[in-house]
Amino acid sequence: MSNVLKCEHLRVVFGGLAAVSDFNIEVGENQIVGLIGPNGAGKTTVFNLLTGVYSPTSGVITLCDKDLAGMSTIARSHEGIARTFQNIRLFKDMSVIDNVMNSFNNRMSYSIAHAMLRLPKYWKEEEKAREKAMNLLHVFNMERYAHEAAGNLPYGSQRRLEIIRALATNPKLLLLDEPAAGMNPAETDNLMETIGKIRDAYHISILLIEHDMSLVMGICEQITVLNFGEVIAQGTPEQIQKDPVVIEAYLGKRRD
Ligand SMILES: Nc1ncnc2c1ncn2[C@@H]1O[C@H](COP(=O)(O)OP(=O)(O)OP(=O)(O)O)[C@@H](O)[C@H]1O
Ligand SMILES: [Mg+2]
Repeated sequence: MSNVLKCEHLRVVFGGLAAVSDFNIEVGENQIVGLIGPNGAGKTTVFNLLTGVYSPTSGVITLCDKDLAGMSTIARSHEGIARTFQNIRLFKDMSVIDNVMNSFNNRMSYSIAHAMLRLPKYWKEEEKAREKAMNLLHVFNMERYAHEAAGNLPYGSQRRLEIIRALATNPKLLLLDEPAAGMNPAETDNLMETIGKIRDAYHISILLIEHDMSLVMGICEQITVLNFGEVIAQGTPEQIQKDPVVIEAYLGKRRD
């Protein structure tokens, strides 16, 4: 099988400076791939290129062999790319289940007229969506929070809710931007288990940005290392941990 995601020679320039240059990556079916690098290396910028927030200055992005050039963020979501953000973005006053159902909304087959007039098709879809949302919450052990306001959840659970919202769009590729940021070690362990569970239960590919090395090394099959917008290493966790260039640029610095 060919790759789910392939980036070739991606480059984006902001005000004369290349935030990302000659970026290449392949993410296979069912694979968990890590994207690491020091602060400002260009990791989130890669996600913004993949999701169409930024247009590349040059280079090609393909999802399941389809060229994404010129596609909007919404079109890419329909193609099967979902993401979470470095800073939590939830509807904090909305209930947990409504947060999940809100993510289904652009997948529903009823029209605005159906919804406004509350026609049977609307209720049927709504019921199905509620059940699906409950199932998702169940997988993540979050049913007990279904009717709580999202903003009242413990921090780790808010992060998990973000992932559930991304999954609700039924993606082929899930992009996680620092999902363990701000978590304590127990929450991080729990998250690591959850990410493995998601891949196995939903058969999706995951590209993960993370500073927590125990999580990255524990869960990723392949890792790409960025430094000043350029790929300085690519390989298995074992290869990356031993790579002197990586140690110099990143791991070494963090150890100081
Ligand atoms: N819209 C933009 N305009 C100008 N510069 C930008 C823009 N977006 C990102 N940059 C620059 O690109 C570089 C890479 O930023 P990016 O957010 O991708 O880093 P990062 O690897 O995600 O860092 P962190 O680990 O801190 O999240 C930074 O120097 C940043 O200032
Ligand atoms: Mg970032």
